[in-house]
Amino acid sequence: MIDIDKYFTPDLKKARKRTKNETEHGSFELEHKFEKLGIGKTYKIQTYGCQGNEADSETMAGILNNMGYTKTDAETEADIILINTCAIRENAENRIWGELGRLKPLKRKNPDLILGLCGCMAQEEKVVNRILEKYEHVDLVFGTHNIHLLPQYIEQAYFNKERVIEVFSEEGSIVENLPKVRAHQFKAWVNIMFGCDEFCTYCIVPYTRGKERSRRPDEIIQEVKELVEAGYQEVTLLGQNVNAYGKDFKDLDYTLGDLLMDLDKLGMPRIRFTTSHPHDIDDKTILAFKVCQSVMPHLHLPVQSGSNAVLKKMNRHYTKEHYLDVIEKLKQAKPDIALTTDIIVAFPTETEADFLETLDLVNRVNFEGAYTFIFSKRAGTPAATFEDNIPEVEKKERLKRLNKVVNDGYLRASTKYVGKTIKVLVDGTSKHDDRILAGYSEHNKLVNFKGSKTLIGQIVDVKVTIARTWFLIGEAVE
Ligand code: SAH
Ligand code: SF4
Ligand code: F3S
Repeated sequence: MIDIDKYFTPDLKKARKRTKNETEHGSFELEHKFEKLGIGKTYKIQTYGCQGNEADSETMAGILNNMGYTKTDAETEADIILINTCAIRENAENRIWGELGRLKPLKRKNPDLILGLCGCMAQEEKVVNRILEKYEHVDLVFGTHNIHLLPQYIEQAYFNKERVIEVFSEEGSIVENLPKVRAHQFKAWVNIMFGCDEFCTYCIVPYTRGKERSRRPDEIIQEVKELVEAGYQEVTLLGQNVNAYGKDFKDLDYTLGDLLMDLDKLGMPRIRFTTSHPHDIDDKTILAFKVCQSVMPHLHLPVQSGSNAVLKKMNRHYTKEHYLDVIEKLKQAKPDIALTTDIIVAFPTETEADFLETLDLVNRVNFEGAYTFIFSKRAGTPAATFEDNIPEVEKKERLKRLNKVVNDGYLRASTKYVGKTIKVLVDGTSKHDDRILAGYSEHNKLVNFKGSKTLIGQIVDVKVTIARTWFLIGEAVE
């Protein structure tokens, strides 16, 4: 089954019209005939990209488990391998092409293996065309809007022995009651909305994830209640632009701030949310940091650039001054709030003076961390047509200079915690030494300390003794 009509090409004009359409709501139910399809068979899911993809992979695992499949880490044994992809930058995509090449011999050894590609790359027409032409060993391609149809795609791939390629270009619906196998036993992702209507000129996400659409508050509250009952210690509310939560409700005046206030009453020890947009963040959300005990004192607030000219070209809808005002309000509401950000350097036409504005902003905000990127051209986005006039060496040089300032900020922030006793949710043992526990503080700092494995999954008081750039070292307080 190859459904060419459903392919998607990034088209700004078409995409912008979609916000007016009603969002369809549905509920997942596994058809009886699929329940035993996977008995005795195994699957492996490889996940790339953001937390949105991690949450989607948990759903795919949930669906496969309900079909009788079991998870395996051994790719040579797997009956199904799904590659959940990310399209955000060229190097993210190159990695996937390399991975698909690497997996080809597996298919030769096991012709019954179903090799599937899903996620954001699947939403791109150029990717689907390349798979059709050059990657015959890929049996299944589906996008971000039709994960709930996985059972029937697998059935078709098995029994009809033909390639199944179906990608919906529509704006996306909301499907509730999807099963999940959560990757973590005490930290959970909770989707609160899907899609993005910001249309930053460099970004592929509004095309790969569809229009902004929010889950109903009662569905989210119910999910978090169940997580509290199951002993979860932390939830992270997910969306590409969580500050737009609720804006699409026609019958409800309810925003992220309201949701945080309601979730705060449920007894979940830690609540985080990501990702925020500086243009949409409202006073009620800022207030939540002050009044909600469970809302953790860390905010990731991508700024992208400190230059107003560049921000305008990026279609970010705010200025450097507005961003600094938001930071000021946040610091007033929660003086110790830890702030992290995303920054793109060498956006087309960015001058040295523009770049210096970014460095200035980073210094003024005192970020405790940042993800930094060189601009990457994404086909079909407006910025792909902007003249890219910055030499390659200059791009790398700017990234290096920015990273130096960012890393100084990391270390400065870490040093602040030395001598303090902080609360750490213990994740597990350190990668290098299993007598050392590792976890995250309320401010989202990685902390290592000696302790018994019985503390895993608990929130422990730790006195910080040493600051390193990327993590803190401490001692458990008895
Ligand atoms: N929805 C989130 C995350 C988007 S992707 C948000 O708006 O913050 C994560 C980060 O990748 C972005 O914040 C941006 O810094 C970076 N990014 C997105 N598109 C990019 C591109 N074309 N080139 C380089 N970096 C990009
Ligand atoms: Fe991309 Fe901008 Fe939407 Fe973030 S807000 S996902 S950067 S378009
Ligand atoms: Fe990548 Fe898609 Fe997330 S492009 S960053 S996986 S929304």
